[in-house]
Amino acid sequence: MQDHTIPSGLHVAMILDGNGRWAQSQGQRRLYGHHKGAKALKNVVLACPDLGVRYLTVYAFSSENWKRPKEEVSGLMSLMEQYLEEEIQALADQGVCLKVIGNRQRLAPSLQKLILKAEALTEGNGRLGLQVALSYGGREDIVKATQKLAMCVQNQTMRPEDITETHITQVLWTYPWPDPDLLIRLGGEQRLSNFLLWQLSYSEFVFLPRYFPDFTVQDFREALMAYSQRQRKFGALPSDTSESASMASA
Ligand code: IPE
Ligand code: IPE
Ligand code: MG
Repeated sequence: MQDHTIPSGLHVAMILDGNGRWAQSQGQRRLYGHHKGAKALKNVVLACPDLGVRYLTVYAFSSENWKRPKEEVSGLMSLMEQYLEEEIQALADQGVCLKVIGNRQRLAPSLQKLILKAEALTEGNGRLGLQVALSYGGREDIVKATQKLAMCVQNQTMRPEDITETHITQVLWTYPWPDPDLLIRLGGEQRLSNFLLWQLSYSEFVFLPRYFPDFTVQDFREALMAYSQRQRKFGALPSDTSESASMASA
């Protein structure tokens, strides 16, 4: 049942952080934390439709995470393959449309193939859009977008002075998805770590101290409730404080 205090049709972006620290706090290896994180993600995805979330974008592996020890990177990549293989049919059955954003060329061919298969299988599903940022960096997204527009200028299909915000939006990896309404970061850090730099320009932020493997549906609901209390202004004045409104009530 829909929770009516939370607006529907939301796009929520999440930085799934704290897996390693969670594992270390349990005396376990970091990779164990990533496995637990994958389980927590399953519950988050399942909860989305009932919480009014229409799009969910999750930061699973950044372009900078390639700098981690080889063992952790290969463990994470195997986990992604395993997750896709085991979960994709269930996701399709739940009406999830999966899309992966990021530099795919850096991923193993086997993982690239699985991603294409998963995207084809879930294409057109309309209950939840699940966008997974994998080998993703916000700056790289903007660099690649700039290269695409520069090509248009070079082949004279566009003049530099004609480039608008809409054109840039249309060549980012996230297109045609809307910008996130809310960003939730787990794990206690209060930074973007190169996530969706263009797309988060007017999103609301919620930072939670909890490590991602401990994140519950109740935490998710509370973050959405906090979002529902925010007043989004996009640089304008809220209608009830505008001069004409206050003069009318005088
Ligand atoms: C987030 O958890 C998952 C990835 C970055 C792949 P971390 O691995 O960053 O966990 P912490 O922040 O070290 O605890
Ligand atoms: C951001 O977390 C990337 C993901 C959660 C996938 P990091 O753990 O990599 O970020 P920093 O290094 O703390 O900024
Ligand atoms: Mg981290």
